Amino acid sequence: MRTQVAIIGAGPAGLLLAHLLRRAGVESVVLETRSQEYVAARIRAGILEQSSVDLLTAAGLGDRLHAEGHPHRGIHLQWPGERHHLDFVDLTGRSVWVYGQTEVQKDLVDANTATVVYEVSDVALHDLTGSPHVTYTSADGTPGRVDAAAIAGCDGSFGPSRASVPGQTWERTYPYSWLGILADVAPSTDELIYAWHPDGFALHSMRSPTVSRLYLQVPNGTDAGSWSDQRVWDELATRLGHGQDGWKLTPGPITEKSVLPMRSFVQTPMRHGRLFLAGDAAHIVPPTGAKGLNLAIADVALLAPALTALLRHNDPTLADRYSDTASRRVWRCTHFSWWMTTMLHIGEDPFDAQLQLSQLRWVTSSEAGAAGLAENYAGLPIGF
Ligand code: FAD
Ligand code: PHB
Repeated sequence: MRTQVAIIGAGPAGLLLAHLLRRAGVESVVLETRSQEYVAARIRAGILEQSSVDLLTAAGLGDRLHAEGHPHRGIHLQWPGERHHLDFVDLTGRSVWVYGQTEVQKDLVDANTATVVYEVSDVALHDLTGSPHVTYTSADGTPGRVDAAAIAGCDGSFGPSRASVPGQTWERTYPYSWLGILADVAPSTDELIYAWHPDGFALHSMRSPTVSRLYLQVPNGTDAGSWSDQRVWDELATRLGHGQDGWKLTPGPITEKSVLPMRSFVQTPMRHGRLFLAGDAAHIVPPTGAKGLNLAIADVALLAPALTALLRHNDPTLADRYSDTASRRVWRCTHFSWWMTTMLHIGEDPFDAQLQLSQLRWVTSSEAGAAGLAENYAGLPIGF
């Protein structure tokens, strides 16, 4: 088949790109290896920056987000004996929203603006500087081919697009992972708690007034099955400061438990010929800064108008600038995510722990320090 843009991957980057292109009058076809149900059920990000909310709203995807999402003014940062609230609205005039990636994904599917071929295999990209096309095998075993004027690689960190772009990669692995749980219990906090603790970092997040999402720093290679529910709640209570100033962590039934390794990865340029990378296909951040989904949205917010100008008006200016413009935000978020991660996770060296505590005291007591964190967490305007 022939279309204007072949999109590889039906995660948030791929589906949002298809949606924005359709609204701008550009046709696309999305190829996805997994089933629609599998993609919809993946538990991942939970926080949207103001810019992401604004973009989704402007794209006609904001109805449920505004009805069911929860704006948060900021976060709590804590270490044993102290908890401080950073108010992003006071500090920067911007807020963040609790709205799960599963909900964003559902809104995109419900919008029904993307033509998606699910459960494909053997996806391969060809002739990226000539007549671009993608070949694949359909679920029923028949070979398929999409010819397009441009290809968008939105296939996350394990897809084939990344390897088709010659360039440079930068990578950092961290000596720890997160054990994440989803629990059917009301959050024990109004806004997220990021906790430094000598036993390891802990995070109390949430999905709704009845569903909590919590994380514990664990060693790499940890088997989620080796952590009983009781052990998870006991460790969360210790690290999050149950009993500190009368605060209580309420445990509840755990419905999901998984281990997430932490990695920083950047690939540049984000373009080769007629192939453009967006989202996790081009970059991975550790989740401590809540940036992965927001970066994917920000990439696509630049890529959609760039492809529209290229394909509808034969104007390559934005497409030629795409990689440089997107990479600036990628590196800002890469730095912020690394900084939050290394400030809050416990390593081997006690010297580092003293530096972390000093840094935490500074960001919670100096308006300049707090404003820097707030500006990065709440997010810079798209295309800054
Ligand atoms: P993906 O969501 O990975 O989508 C890529 C798609 O491509 C997938 O559907 C995949 O099946 C498909 N694909 C792969 N290979 C192929 C192929 N060969 N052919 C066709 N399709 C293919 N981010 C935040 O902003 N805030 C958070 O709070 C946050 N928390 C997170 C917590 C966890 C536990 C995890 C795992 C991630 C978190 N993230 C967070 C990161 C965020 O989930 C990702 O950055 C986001 O999913 C990126 O979207 P994407 O569309 O680029 O990639
Ligand atoms: C989440 O709710 O899953 C979440 C929130 C904030 C983070 C990471 C994950 O920094």
